[in-house]
Amino acid sequence: MLASKRILLIIGGGIAAYKSLDLIRRLQEHGAQVTPVLTRAAEEFVTPLSVSALAGQKAYRDLFDLTDEAEMGHIQLSRSADLIVVAPATADMMGKMAAGLANDLASTLLMATDTPVLCAPAMNVRMWDHPATQRNLKQLQQDGIRFVGPNEGDMACGEYGAGRMSEPLEIVAAVEAHLADGPLKGKRILVTSGPTHEPIDPVRYIANRSSGAQGTAVARALAALGADVVFVTGPADVPPPQGVQVVQVETAQQMSDAVDAALPVNAGVFAAAVADWKVATASDRKLKKSRDGLPSLEFAENPDILKRVSQMGAGRPDLVVGFAAETDDVIDNATAKRARKGCDWIVANDVSPATGIMGGSENAVVLISDQGAESWPRMGKDMVAARLAQKIADALAG
Ligand code: CTP
Repeated sequence: MLASKRILLIIGGGIAAYKSLDLIRRLQEHGAQVTPVLTRAAEEFVTPLSVSALAGQKAYRDLFDLTDEAEMGHIQLSRSADLIVVAPATADMMGKMAAGLANDLASTLLMATDTPVLCAPAMNVRMWDHPATQRNLKQLQQDGIRFVGPNEGDMACGEYGAGRMSEPLEIVAAVEAHLADGPLKGKRILVTSGPTHEPIDPVRYIANRSSGAQGTAVARALAALGADVVFVTGPADVPPPQGVQVVQVETAQQMSDAVDAALPVNAGVFAAAVADWKVATASDRKLKKSRDGLPSLEFAENPDILKRVSQMGAGRPDLVVGFAAETDDVIDNATAKRARKGCDWIVANDVSPATGIMGGSENAVVLISDQGAESWPRMGKDMVAARLAQKIADALAG
């Protein structure tokens, strides 16, 4: 719940601004008080009248509106909130924020504040993928700005891809996660999850049986304790958790790049079942049985993400947690793996088919640390996640 929380909602100029009208309602339903601010471009998409009618208060628009300055100056406006939400955060807005420009009310508020900021980007997929936007994103993340979305899907411009603004309820969940008071508040934690897909040709790939259930549960549990979670996931069976920053990837190389982009973090939890090898001879056209005969695949090693982050020296997270899926000699193998990778903890589990753990809802894990091996009873993956998140909170506090 967001009872008595004050949200300053900055509405940017994009077609997704129509969803911000619903967002005002959803935030209010959760108990929040919403003060809206519109950019000049936003007024082309939604009217100040509808925004103020829904918010039940004035929609702020102009930096040089003397009445506003007499009632509440922009400095005070920017600091009177518990959280500033920018939705939609357009490419232009992100560029201004990253560069530190302050030439209208919205950008000036963002510069004048020390209140935490959550952005919900929305733009065309090419604009989102553009190196300038990705550079701005990284800069803003480093500046401590949080993000929810964007999602992948059909866009108003007729294209498909990443750039759709998160749905209002997803943004509400992110707001709640951000304002949640928990032991991990202020800590940025990276979680990798799910399998990776390594292409053979444009229609075939090599995968593994990971469902992403345990990694997703860990991300949700960390967010519930107040962490700012970056969730880098391969193509999983289960949907990603709400209230976290989701980065969807397919291959191990893409996962490795996404992890680099997410650093620095306070802790990293590497729950993904990353393919150790990729197909070195992957074809960019579909292999045809008549023309090509039996394919012969050659493999090349993928980057070992856990090992690299564990051994990175400067910029290494304070706590690095790996997972080990074993079928024999679980404790011995996982202990050796912890030493080989250089991570702090290994969460090991027995994934022999008879255990039903891979793809199931329960897990029986052994936590390997410098304190030795601690066996946890078999329990739901959510419970394993909650216990692990609490342990991470204790470790980061200590
Ligand atoms: N991992 C990773 N990058 C890889 C491979 C694995 O980050 N390219 C991480 C996984 O997310 C997990 C741990 O390393 O946290 C698992 O280690 P790994 O050596 O891949 O385990 P196995 O494949 O089970 O290793 P082995 O073949 O030695 O049993």
